[in-house]
Amino acid sequence: MGDMGNDRCVLGIETSCDETGVAIYHGQRGLLAHALHSQVALHAVYGGVVPEIASRDHVRRVLPLVREVMTQADITPSDLCGVAYTAGPGLIGALLVGAAVGRSLAFGWDVPAVAVHHMEGHLLAPFLEPNPPSFPLLALLVSGGHTLLIDVEGVGRYRILGESLDDAVGEAFDKTAKLLGLGYPGGPALAALAESGNRSRFVFPRPMTDRPGLDFSFSGLKTCAVTTLRREGNDPQTRADIAYAFQEAVVDTLAIKCQRALRQTGRRRLVVAGGVGANHALRARLTDLVAQEGGSVHYPRLAFCTDNGAMIALTGWLRLRAGVREPLCIRALARWPLDTLSTVSEP
Ligand code: KG4
Ligand code: ZN
Repeated sequence: MGDMGNDRCVLGIETSCDETGVAIYHGQRGLLAHALHSQVALHAVYGGVVPEIASRDHVRRVLPLVREVMTQADITPSDLCGVAYTAGPGLIGALLVGAAVGRSLAFGWDVPAVAVHHMEGHLLAPFLEPNPPSFPLLALLVSGGHTLLIDVEGVGRYRILGESLDDAVGEAFDKTAKLLGLGYPGGPALAALAESGNRSRFVFPRPMTDRPGLDFSFSGLKTCAVTTLRREGNDPQTRADIAYAFQEAVVDTLAIKCQRALRQTGRRRLVVAGGVGANHALRARLTDLVAQEGGSVHYPRLAFCTDNGAMIALTGWLRLRAGVREPLCIRALARWPLDTLSTVSEP
């Protein structure tokens, strides 16, 4: 029990929002199995995530997924050295499902448990890929709930350089997509619509780039989309042109701030993660930027940009190896500042 030998694995559970993600990470062999159940179809009819429906669906899905990944990985509970679960930030009812199930499985199997911060999971997801970055690095985390630029000296050593003062990038994508009549979640749909947009018809502002600092503000872009739609008419080509102008403004703003942060900190490695990290225009733009700045950029595979259990299993493994343990009292936090985590030595 509690033996953190590299020849054992960690079960990771993610239930912070609208995906149930479960995975097994092995100390030597890496990711052994992962499975995901997306609730998109359940929430789509409401145009957004309904917290109560999310919690109820996690309750239904989580244990069958645990069994599925253990079968896939061909392991039994005796191969596990711990259980990791997302304890925040996120929807409290949804988090409580993963926390209660994860903590209780660890109790029943007599192995340690660890509470994982969802955004630390996103940040470390590129370490699941070949050629992972080394520390120190700069991280741009762009999800549905957060936009963060972070100076990262190691696992748990995070200095927040900038964040969104209003809507997160993913949230801005989703709200603008809704205005354009696209379904939930809007990010990928808006990106697809932008493909057929005219590149020169509209130019939206690059918020907060005309002053020093690394904070972001994206809610004005949504307003800009509404006023343009009212002025120009709601025909399909105009909608595509707005989608293009919106995405361009977001990508450009993120790239300007990343360039500024790279120069300010002298870091040469950039990690980009979180749901919006799956956006092709953003990836292309940041790849160009780091080539120009003489650095490297590291992304998770597309499936691990959005929420998943693999990033939680990996983060849990790193923290358990460093001796982090969760007491029996089950804890979940809707809000949880990333820069309050305990520090862990480098992977
Ligand atoms: O990380 P994530 O799965 O969940 C949170 O932690 O919030 O991020 C979800 C967000 C949603 O807002 C979704 O619209 C956005 O990521 N997203 C995208 C793309 N794929 C997902 N936004 C723009 N382009 C994409 N390809
Ligand atoms: Zn997420």
